[in-house]
Amino acid sequence: MQDQDPHSFARLGEGRVNHLFLKAFVNFEEKKITATATWTLNESTNQHSVVFDSKGLNIQKIWLDGDSTAISFQIKDAEKFLGNALIVPIQPGTRKVHISYETGPGADALQWLEPTQTHDKKSPFLFTQSQAILARTWVPCQDSPGIRFTYDAKISVPNGLMAVMSAENPDKLSSDGVYSFSMKNPIPSYLLALSVGKFEFTPIGPRTGVYAEPGMMKASVHEFADLEKMLETAENLYGAYAWGRYDLIVLPPSFPFGGMENPRITFCTPTIIAGDRSLTSLVAHELAHSWSGNLVTNATWNDFWLNEGFTMYFESRIMEALYGKDIEDMHLILNGEDLKLTVEELGKDSPDTHLKLNLEGRDPDDGMNDIAYIKGQYLLKRMEAVFGREKFDAFLRNHFSENAFKSMTTEDFLASYESELVKDQPTLADSINIRSWIYGPGIPDNAPVFHSTLFEKTDSKIEAFKNGASASELGLKNISTNEWLRFIRGLPAPLNKERIKDLDGTFGFSNSGNSEILAAWFEHVIRNNYQPAFPALEKFLAVTGRRKFCKPLYTLLNKNPETRSFGKMVFEKSQGNYHPITRESIRELLEKG
Ligand code: BES
Ligand code: ZN
Repeated sequence: MQDQDPHSFARLGEGRVNHLFLKAFVNFEEKKITATATWTLNESTNQHSVVFDSKGLNIQKIWLDGDSTAISFQIKDAEKFLGNALIVPIQPGTRKVHISYETGPGADALQWLEPTQTHDKKSPFLFTQSQAILARTWVPCQDSPGIRFTYDAKISVPNGLMAVMSAENPDKLSSDGVYSFSMKNPIPSYLLALSVGKFEFTPIGPRTGVYAEPGMMKASVHEFADLEKMLETAENLYGAYAWGRYDLIVLPPSFPFGGMENPRITFCTPTIIAGDRSLTSLVAHELAHSWSGNLVTNATWNDFWLNEGFTMYFESRIMEALYGKDIEDMHLILNGEDLKLTVEELGKDSPDTHLKLNLEGRDPDDGMNDIAYIKGQYLLKRMEAVFGREKFDAFLRNHFSENAFKSMTTEDFLASYESELVKDQPTLADSINIRSWIYGPGIPDNAPVFHSTLFEKTDSKIEAFKNGASASELGLKNISTNEWLRFIRGLPAPLNKERIKDLDGTFGFSNSGNSEILAAWFEHVIRNNYQPAFPALEKFLAVTGRRKFCKPLYTLLNKNPETRSFGKMVFEKSQGNYHPITRESIRELLEKG
C-alpha cells in the first residue's frame, strides 16, 4: 500500500479513522445540512495532528473525546479540485474527534430538487453523489479510497419524508422524521450516500427491493423483476454477497450517472426504465461493484480500472449467465466500438489511454471514460480466453475473498496475478503481455474480438438502406435494443431530410421510450439539423441530467454552427435541472466553443 493518495490531504500512513457517527439535520429551506461528524481514530494513532479533507464546509466547532471545550484547528487554503485540508491537533491517545459544521452553497455532492423536478411533483428531494472526491463537500472525512471505516448515522428530515443511506435502511416512514442507520462493513468515503424524499419501498425478493416515488413504483418493480435472480447469479460466479440486502433507489432524472454502487442500495437513473427490461445490464453492473469496488477497492483514482474494468467484466458474466451469450456478445461488440472512438478522441499514444493513470493535479473524473471501463473489460476477457474460464474464475473468486474490505493498487494486483494465476505458465502470460495493457497506450493488438450473427443481420439492413431501400422495406421488427443501437449507429452520417424523415416516421425513434435509442438517434438529428425532431430533443435534454447522454449531445450541438445557438438556449433553460457535476461539464464544453 502506498502512503499517499494524490487526491486526498489525509496521510495514509498515520492518524487514520475507523468509524464515523454522523448526526445530521437536512434543511430543505436553506438547502443545507447541519451536522456533527464524530470520527473514531485508530487505536495505534500516536500523532500530534490528524488531517481531514473538506471542501466548502463551514466548520463551527471541533472538540476531542469527552471534553466539549472547543479546540483550535487549521483550515488550509483551498486547492483546485481538492478543497481544504483540515488539520486537527490531537494528543497521543485521542480516540474521538467531533466536528460540527454546515455544508456550503457549493456542496457539489448534493443535489437539492424542487418538487417540480421530481416524478410526482409533490415533495422536495435530496440525493448525494460522493464518488470520486465529493464526499468532502458534505462530510469532513479522510476522502481517499484507501481508507475505510464503519458508520452509524442519525438523520433528521422534514416530517413526511423518508431517508435512506448506504447502510441498513428503513422500509417505512418514521413518525418523527428521524432515521437511524448503520453500516457495519468498513467502506471508503466515496461510498457514503444519503437520499431524502417522498419515496416508498417494495420488496422484490427476500434480499432485494426497490425504493421509488409512488408514481414510479409500478414501472420500477416491473423493470427490476429479475433483481433477486441477478444477485443469486452474481453469488454463483464469485462468492457470497457480503452486504446483507441489495436494494435499488430510482432517483429523479437529474441524477448525473446511470447508477452508483452505494453499498446495500444502488442509486439509479430513471432513464433505465424502458418498460421492456432492456437496459438492466446497468443493474448487473452496480451489483457487481458489491465485489469489485466495494469489497476490493481501488487504492487511488489512478487505479480506477480495478474498480470499473473488473466490474464491466463481472457485469457481462452476469448478463451472459442470465440471458445468454448471444445477447452479451452484442453488448461487448458495442463496447468495443465505443472504446475505439474514445482512443481516437484521446489520441492513440496518449498516456490517458493507459489503464494505470496519472491524475495528479487533475480532477479524478477525467479518468471516468471507456479506458478504465472497456479497455479494462477487454483485458479481463483476454485473460479469461488465455487461462480458460475455469481457472480464471477460481482466480477471481480467490481475489475477492483474499482481499475483501481492502484497497489495492494496480501493482498489488500485478503481484497477485503473477503469483496466483501465471505461476509456472510464462508462455500464457507472454501471450497477454499485461504490462502493455496497463502501462501502454491504445488498444493492444491481442485484444479479443467478438462475433454476433444478429449484428451481421443488422449490418445487412444498414447496407440495404444505404443502397436505397426505404425504412419500411428493411423488415426491422421485434429486434432487441442492442440491434437497434447497432442499426442507428451504423447509419451514414449525412442523411438527407427525406431519408431521416423516413426513418423517424417508420420507426418512431424520436418518440422512443428507450433513453439509449433516443440518445443514439438524436446524434443523427443534430448532425443533420433535422428540425422536426428538435422539440423531442429539447424535451429530453430539459430533464435528463445523465452526463453520459448530455455530454455527447451538447458537444454535437456546439460543433454544428447551425445548431450551436439552440444548444446554448436549451442549456440556459435546463441547467437548473442539472446536477453540479453535469452542469459544470456542459458549461465547460460550451465555453470551449
Ligand atoms: N461508480 C460508477 C459511477 C461513477 C464513477 C461516479 C466515477 C463518479 C465517478 C458507476 O458504477 C458506473 O460506472 N456507472 C455507469 C453505468 C455503467 C453501466 C457503465 C454510468 O453511470 O453510466
Ligand atoms: Zn461502475
